[in-house]
Amino acid sequence: MAQAHYPMPAALKDEARLDAARYQEMYNQSVQDPESFWAEHGKRITWFTPYTEVKNTHFGKNDVQIEWFRDGTLNACYNCVDRHLAERADKTAIIWEGDDVDEQKHISYRELHEQVAKFANGLKKLGVKKGDRVAIYMPMVPEAAYAMLACARLGAIHSVIFAGFSPNAIADRVNDCGAKVVITANEGRRGGKGVALKTNVDKAVADNACPSVSSVVVFQHTETEVPWNSELDVWWHELIGNCDSDCPAEVMQAEDPLFILYTSGSTGTPKGVQHTTGGYMVYASMTHEYVFDLREDDVYWCAADVGWITGHSYIVYGPLANGATTLMFEGVPTYPDETRIAKIVDKHQVNILYTAPTAIRALMAKGDAAARGSSRESLRILGSVGEPINPEAWDWYYNCIGNGKCPIMDTFWQTETGGIMITPLPAVKDMKPGAAMMPFFGVQPALVDNEGNKLEGVAEGNLVIADSWPGQARTLWGDHERFVQTYFSTYEGYYFTGDGAKVDEDGDYMITGRVDDVLNVSGHRLGTAEIESALVAHEAVAEAAVVGFPHDIKGQGIYVYVTVVEGTEPTDELRKELIQWVRTDLSPIATPDHIQFSPGLPKTRSGKIMRRILRKIAANEHDSLGDTSTLADPSVVESLIENRLNK
Ligand code: WTA
Repeated sequence: MAQAHYPMPAALKDEARLDAARYQEMYNQSVQDPESFWAEHGKRITWFTPYTEVKNTHFGKNDVQIEWFRDGTLNACYNCVDRHLAERADKTAIIWEGDDVDEQKHISYRELHEQVAKFANGLKKLGVKKGDRVAIYMPMVPEAAYAMLACARLGAIHSVIFAGFSPNAIADRVNDCGAKVVITANEGRRGGKGVALKTNVDKAVADNACPSVSSVVVFQHTETEVPWNSELDVWWHELIGNCDSDCPAEVMQAEDPLFILYTSGSTGTPKGVQHTTGGYMVYASMTHEYVFDLREDDVYWCAADVGWITGHSYIVYGPLANGATTLMFEGVPTYPDETRIAKIVDKHQVNILYTAPTAIRALMAKGDAAARGSSRESLRILGSVGEPINPEAWDWYYNCIGNGKCPIMDTFWQTETGGIMITPLPAVKDMKPGAAMMPFFGVQPALVDNEGNKLEGVAEGNLVIADSWPGQARTLWGDHERFVQTYFSTYEGYYFTGDGAKVDEDGDYMITGRVDDVLNVSGHRLGTAEIESALVAHEAVAEAAVVGFPHDIKGQGIYVYVTVVEGTEPTDELRKELIQWVRTDLSPIATPDHIQFSPGLPKTRSGKIMRRILRKIAANEHDSLGDTSTLADPSVVESLIENRLNK
């Protein structure tokens, strides 16, 4: 890893809460004596009953137990809202910036409390109680956060569904967790256009396709009228109309579930990753404070969506638990033009900006136009998340957005990890573009080869974690066996991330990307199996194989190989139809970039599709196909190469 080093800015060094020595001291304690380390740091959260037990964890090949702070009781909403009322009632909790440049709102902790408590009382009227599941399919408006917090207040388990998902995908998720209520908005706004959220929910629940759902709560966000089903639908404003703003926070056990979030795996249907209350809150808030070196008066902006884990941990739970001011942005970085991000930074005097490489690359494509007409002088710390950041994009972000004075926290983590795992830390070590650097407290990363042997020193291999940390997912909703199988059976004694990584001569980590069949398209995680199963459900498709290929802006693009059923013509019309099919069945984020029709797919003699070969062809690297001796019919490959689309 030939790496340029960028020093941490001197101004930051004087004031940051960590330096190299302090980091090392805390890290050593966190892994040598996790019990006492977390016993101490668990106190950052307000507990109704203090814990006496700290860590109860075991990573076995067939049995996995993960419990933190087991006998403590608390409430996540209380920690994000009520406990700040004494000293921060008038402080802004949420700054909302609408899709429209003229729309904005400031919500104080006092107002947040009132709104959340009222809405929680509204949910109670609909019969929602501790342990019930509630699906949230919302645009990026403060009400999305109110809805999450109101569920947490009642002890109901929320499952946020990204607002880009289609009706089928909504129904699958709602049915898997058996949600009682779905919370949505009449319409979302993105890039000047309406997003038909309520209509999608209507389609998902039509014909009793989601039998567990007894109410759909609709927040009226725009003037657009929507069809109404008086058996299910209830307006948000009518529901809370006569609700009290007094609603006691339910006493929850540390290990009671806080939320379920569906994410894609390499096989099968999306997995309902389940996080619990105590450990998650401790870990989300602590990472948020240390990684961004949070200060009391900071305006902090994470430009993710609440539909993903980044929005859960770093728009809602982490920042609000820390009493921070968190900015929520409804729109897109390029609307009305590419200066939007920088303009928002200036307008709200943002100090910390946390975004994704795909957004950075989209802006970088326009040269330095994104910085035009803004100073961005308020910025102190930058963050990146969701996919590897290439050094060119890193450089552009550092210089063009950060004026060459703000360190970039390239944070590696996952839906399953609950919070940041490997990251630079302000003032601790010089930065290296493209390197996620060092483990956070309590995280013990390691590299193993394909046989599970631990690799020491400078190496490249599969990234695993050797011991539990408080923010870790505890199970998959309703399927603990799949949880154990997916994450703990590949390499005995380790949690397997599914990612590859390198370690350099300084011991710093660099994430190289997924080593399984999970795609990362514009920072959105998608399983090739999900896209394939959507495709083969089309009557013209006999067989489909989906692989990723390097894409300048999206990081990865989607390349599809399709064999049509006999008697069907593989026309351009069909190609368009299939693209539309995937968009409607799954989500526009899963739109194929290329569909190559092929009379056959490369298979081994035992009938297994050789994806490695398909990936090489999609990447235009067919000169280095590697070993093809196990191919049943080598002529298939020649024809695939000849007709490839990514030239
Ligand atoms: C990838 C997002 C490189 C990785 C928080 C991981 C990254 C997947 C980084 C999880 C990073 C996330 N550098 N790759 N800084 N951050 N990833 O569950 O492949 O949506 O496994 O969680 O994103 O995606 P997820």
